[in-house]
Amino acid sequence: MPNQTLHCDCTIEKWPAKELAQADRDLLAAAHRAALNAYAPYSQFQVGAAARLENGEVVLGANQENMSYPQGMCGERIAVFTAGAQYPGVAIEAVAIVSPSPIANPNAFMPCGGCRQVLLESEQRQEGSIRLLLQARDEDVLVSKSATNLVPFAFDADGLGR
Ligand code: THU
Repeated sequence: MPNQTLHCDCTIEKWPAKELAQADRDLLAAAHRAALNAYAPYSQFQVGAAARLENGEVVLGANQENMSYPQGMCGERIAVFTAGAQYPGVAIEAVAIVSPSPIANPNAFMPCGGCRQVLLESEQRQEGSIRLLLQARDEDVLVSKSATNLVPFAFDADGLGR
């Protein structure tokens, strides 16, 4: 018998794009434009990202691959890190992450584990949740109110005693 059970409660909603608020739709449109700048000759999988900051700026990212595969970088991580580099200390309100590429299961278009960890740490630093909008092609949009929904059992750096 286990002596403890850890539960996670992760809620992600799926919305028809046309029912989302205009601000969400604008951010998705910006991410789709950003995806045009993806450099993905190896995977053929293009990803665009757009981060809306509390100062109203929108910072874009698109995945950039490299012949030395591990050196490539995901689109959303580029957007989040660029936001940090260009507007340090300015909170991220929302990040839209999209792909125009074919995908078998649109519900499986999710940030990779590394990007989830980066999004989560951004939330923790700014002490405010980041709204996530995920859209494969023109499918319905997955909406998460916080990155914590994507990292249910997160490593807690507070335990490092920094
Ligand atoms: N990719 C992203 O840009 N974001 C993700 O969350 C998942 C994967 C990119 C990395 C690589 O260039 C391509 O998609 C295939 O994995």
